[in-house]
Amino acid sequence: MRTPAHAAINETVQAAAELGIEHFKPLINAVLRKISALPAIEAGEATNEIINASYPEWIKEKVKHNWPEKWQDILRQGNARPPMTLRVNRQFAESDEPRQHYLDLLTEQEIEAQTCAFSSFGIQLLKPVPVAALPKFREGAASVQDEAAQLCCDLLELEEGHKVLDACAAPGGKTCAILESQTGIHLTALDSEASRAAKIDENLKRLNLQAELKVSRAEELEQWWDGKHFDRILLDAPCSASAVIRRHPDIKLLRKEGDIKALAELQLQLLTSLWKTLKPGGILVYATCSIFPQENSRIIERFLRQQDQAELFKIDAPWGQDTGFGRQLFPQENGHDGFFYARLKKRGSEIPE
Ligand SMILES: C[S@@+](CC[C@H](N)C(=O)[O-])C[C@H]1O[C@@H](n2cnc3c(N)ncnc32)[C@H](O)[C@@H]1O
Repeated sequence: MRTPAHAAINETVQAAAELGIEHFKPLINAVLRKISALPAIEAGEATNEIINASYPEWIKEKVKHNWPEKWQDILRQGNARPPMTLRVNRQFAESDEPRQHYLDLLTEQEIEAQTCAFSSFGIQLLKPVPVAALPKFREGAASVQDEAAQLCCDLLELEEGHKVLDACAAPGGKTCAILESQTGIHLTALDSEASRAAKIDENLKRLNLQAELKVSRAEELEQWWDGKHFDRILLDAPCSASAVIRRHPDIKLLRKEGDIKALAELQLQLLTSLWKTLKPGGILVYATCSIFPQENSRIIERFLRQQDQAELFKIDAPWGQDTGFGRQLFPQENGHDGFFYARLKKRGSEIPE
């Protein structure tokens, strides 16, 4: 990071006094000085032993158990630097080829970039830059969003006039991607946290998009649902974020093994409740940024067992791996994050409302 090591050490030692652990000052000083003298290891150079030691045992064992052929690479990618990826706003550019147009703008600013492999509106920067340095960012020409997250739009098969629910929407990355991908839809963006929901509003305003915002727990239908069914639902469920550890390394420390079971129960509950709000013939896309099948395929499997009207709507895509219940994306070096998508269709024909 940009702070020189001696300054960071000094500040941390001083902070010990404020934390009321003054007696640990010499110990903190000694440990940090030793660490700062060690050579930095880039993720690409680290041995498997070093990588494995950087994860709590339970994450390492869970990944190993679930992905016996890929676990080492998954852990390695979790320690690597993620790329900065953009989503070009196709509604913004005065061009038939908005992505090429934006690439040209980046080239003018001497920002090196390339097109993403799977998202038609994705651009990956060779080196991250502050968003303020991105051409026409404030005006809404582009947004920062990983390629895996951008893939939700095509899965929804949106059409003009559709009534769409984005059920766990904040900070609105996918809400905005959906609205950019199809004009003339009516989108409700719902989130349980008011402070996070405010971010959706900020993003909508910058991109000049419209949605109805609601703050409520999604599973409490009586709090927010007016009884009118949705054509499409995106459930980007709260999860362990175990597939995006490279962007949130604190997960290794903060997430506990017991959280996964509790999250899985919430995910199934959200899916079960929201299913009632989907029209017959409608499509629900279930997404997480988890690498654990317990939060992904198992949720879909459990749900299908209890819901006669639900059928798996297979995702044929060149990305990720088919799990039998959806597609798992693994974090890629210089590519997309880890992610999971499953798609469900509600049996029956359209009902007049
Ligand atoms: C994975 S994040 C969503 C990211 C968002 N879809 C995007 O693309 O920017 C999950 C969100 O679910 C919200 N959440 C958690 N529990 C919820 C619940 N019971 N009902 C609705 N939202 C919930 C969290 O506040 C969080 O914003």
